[in-house]
Amino acid sequence: MRTFLFVFAFIFIGGLSHAQSYTPTPENLASRKQFEDMRFGMFIHWGPFSIPGSGEWVMNERNITVKNYTRLEKFFNPIDFDAAQYVRTAKDAGMKYITLITRHHDGFSMWDTKYSDFNIMHTPYKKDIVKLMADECHKQGIKLVLYYSLLDWRSDDYSYWTGRTGQGTGRTVHGDWNEYIKFMKNQLTELLTNYGEVEGIWFDGYWDQVKKGETKPQVDWHTGEIYSLIHKLQPKCLIGDNHHSTPLPGEDFQMFEKDLPGGNTTGFGGASASSLPLETCETMNNSWGFNITDTNYKSVPKLIHYIVNAAGYNANFLLNIGPMPNGEIQQEFTDTLKSIGQWLKVNGETIYGTRGNVVPKQEWGAVTIKGKTLYVHILKHLDNGSLLIPNITPKVLKAILFSDKRKIKFEQQANGVTIHLDNIPQDKIDTIVQLEI
Ligand code: GLC
Repeated sequence: MRTFLFVFAFIFIGGLSHAQSYTPTPENLASRKQFEDMRFGMFIHWGPFSIPGSGEWVMNERNITVKNYTRLEKFFNPIDFDAAQYVRTAKDAGMKYITLITRHHDGFSMWDTKYSDFNIMHTPYKKDIVKLMADECHKQGIKLVLYYSLLDWRSDDYSYWTGRTGQGTGRTVHGDWNEYIKFMKNQLTELLTNYGEVEGIWFDGYWDQVKKGETKPQVDWHTGEIYSLIHKLQPKCLIGDNHHSTPLPGEDFQMFEKDLPGGNTTGFGGASASSLPLETCETMNNSWGFNITDTNYKSVPKLIHYIVNAAGYNANFLLNIGPMPNGEIQQEFTDTLKSIGQWLKVNGETIYGTRGNVVPKQEWGAVTIKGKTLYVHILKHLDNGSLLIPNITPKVLKAILFSDKRKIKFEQQANGVTIHLDNIPQDKIDTIVQLEI
């Protein structure tokens, strides 16, 4: 009995320590800090799924068989794609990084991979998109994060028989899960070896193997092994996984989808925010991949408010574009991005390099902090001109309007600071008051 207990304890503790043994390297920690400082990035959902103009889930939604879907490969020819232009557009929008789809759930690889024939080199375009983007990002000095889907609607080795989606793509063979894990490790090795410095890997699709109401996946995702491989190849590379739950050991940032940290308007949220760097992603209309009928464009003020609120929650904001099949970014998106960029050019100081969680959620806006400066972002018109900013206990030395540096009257109380904005022009998008402590 004693031996049994001893062996059991050994296995148990051994298993636990393996799962919890991740200690980020100093360079990884430095990279986390830089990631948080960036605050705003561009998500790019693009690939052959853009051709039908129905979003990136079209294969699953229309039950397109693997055989039929493969036809898309022959007409993915984005002659108007210009990597330099993409990077410029992102930079002009004030974005500091780009998160690029390298392989979405449809299994198409946007790079020259040895491990799958369904890839960009077999299209009429024949140019490695990941390489073009990586080179341009490095040249123009913007960070590159690579999105990689764990879920695959084509592969026979992927455990689709236990998965929640991709049931209508005509697969009949039950392949070998271990082969699938090996395949992903090989592909990730290519991505982390042949494209220079990669800021992060953005995993998605884990949830396909998690039954409704459960947290444990149906399969062993081998995350420990995959994450160690990534950190071995590029120690600075940050790992995030869009599994919608508490971060797993080995992850370096936590993401939220279409919700501010902790929020759950979509059914994907609900996980509480961890102490890791945070990010939330959102679409410019209602689609990730190009959708020809979706004209539900979000306004510039709405998206700026998202950036501000995300920063107030200590999170980065990753804003998506779904380029058209020809590689062009539609004008509605570029116009909006340009306006956001103009706003950030003037007000970026109150966003980049700041941290949040200074005050709990406020219906009027958010507060960010950098060193000894607090930026109070008032996103709503104040009718009575006075506002109590709760939780501010350090002594406030002065309050000024960020836009023209004029002095603002304020009073310090036990429960915070009240600022008075009577006769002060309020901005339609964001009235920013700077408090020096
Ligand atoms: C979801 C979707 C996917 C999209 C992602 C972006 O997980 O499956 O299509 O890429 O969200 O956050």
